[in-house]
Amino acid sequence: MNALRFPSDFVWGASTSAYQIEGATKEDGRGVSIWDTFAATPGKVRGGDTGDPGADHYHRYAQDLDLMRDLGLQSYRFSVAWPRIQPNGSGKANQKGLDFYRRLIDGLVDRGTRPMVTLFHWDLPQALQDAGGWESRDTALRFAEYAEIVFGALHARDWLTINEPKTVVDCGYRQGVHAPGIADGDRALVACHHLLLAHGLASRLLHEQHPGRRIGPALNLHPTYPAEDSQEARDAAVRQDAVENRLYLDPIFKGFYPIEILSTDRDHIREGDLATISEPIDLLGVQYYTPIFVGPDQRRVIKHRTRQAGWLEDYPDGFHDILVRLKRDYPEVPLVITENGLATDDEPGADGRVADEDRISYLRGHLAAMHRAMKAGVRVEGYHVWSLLDNFEWAEGYAQRFGIVHVDFETQKRIPKDSAHWYRDLIRTGELR
Ligand code: FCB
Repeated sequence: MNALRFPSDFVWGASTSAYQIEGATKEDGRGVSIWDTFAATPGKVRGGDTGDPGADHYHRYAQDLDLMRDLGLQSYRFSVAWPRIQPNGSGKANQKGLDFYRRLIDGLVDRGTRPMVTLFHWDLPQALQDAGGWESRDTALRFAEYAEIVFGALHARDWLTINEPKTVVDCGYRQGVHAPGIADGDRALVACHHLLLAHGLASRLLHEQHPGRRIGPALNLHPTYPAEDSQEARDAAVRQDAVENRLYLDPIFKGFYPIEILSTDRDHIREGDLATISEPIDLLGVQYYTPIFVGPDQRRVIKHRTRQAGWLEDYPDGFHDILVRLKRDYPEVPLVITENGLATDDEPGADGRVADEDRISYLRGHLAAMHRAMKAGVRVEGYHVWSLLDNFEWAEGYAQRFGIVHVDFETQKRIPKDSAHWYRDLIRTGELR
């Protein structure tokens, strides 16, 4: 492949989330989150793993900041743990929690790395779950209160509201394989509405209180395709698109729900909600991992190579297609890729090196596809690889390694993998090779 050149102002970064890396779940006044509860429930997480020790980032953040500087990261996307800020999900802020993220942001700025802050990456305070969680409208109001505290305390220009509402809806409420572990399609749609409402309320608040800052959601988008050449499969792919993408994009960008999924004459959807949800956004966080191919029976068919994560098909064209589709079907906003990456079974060799060729090839293919979309006129501002560090991969525990930096969870030693060196060179030269 010839080298592909990226614009000189393109921003290269990496992504993490609080529960997956921080550990220290009982320290400095942090309250219990639904992921603490879920992970402590036997049978929910592979191997009985929990968010402790994570990558012990709460204690090792300074070392991790140096690691980011050494890689040349220009942006770091992380999340704030709501239970560190409001241990019970409401009321006065826990100063020690805020201080941790202040130190982190100061450390980033000192090293020339921009912070990009996610408000909610799934670790809901357990107290709010006990009061109904995302099925309760009040949780969206509490979220706005939490956002106001964090906006006021932390100095960052770019913000993300909710990470992957779809995963919360599908994995947390429809299939029950993520916290809070509910398996009920109807309740999932109620939770979905309140997640989107929370997004809209926080976005509006930022606009009112902090002009000049930017905010948007972080959506995992999945281009959908027919798995075979039949009219039934083509129709199924269109239906699947509503579930995967339009359920989130349409209310946020256009102020309505896809008709196939939901009509608005439901009790939990109140007058004015869709106007709040469609508060104009300043950027869209796009997370792309996999396409979804469906057969005539609406079932998913895996068509391409997978590695550690069985759901993740290596299909770079899907990345191109979803970016081009955003430009075609929705109002233009700057796009920031907030996650993209691959889990592989990486361990250090005898020489101490972690040779993760598969990850490099996945990233190379996907970045080339993104480049192609940019050439076609899609405005992509930056890219964050998932993830900086190997971490707690939700229901998969520590078994799936998505990091460009290897973490030994016994010793907490970090080793930049070959992909990290490759990424550092890409950042330095702006050229994809
Ligand atoms: C996304 C999540 C992220 C990580 C990756 C692999 O769905 O946002 O936390 O688990 O998948």
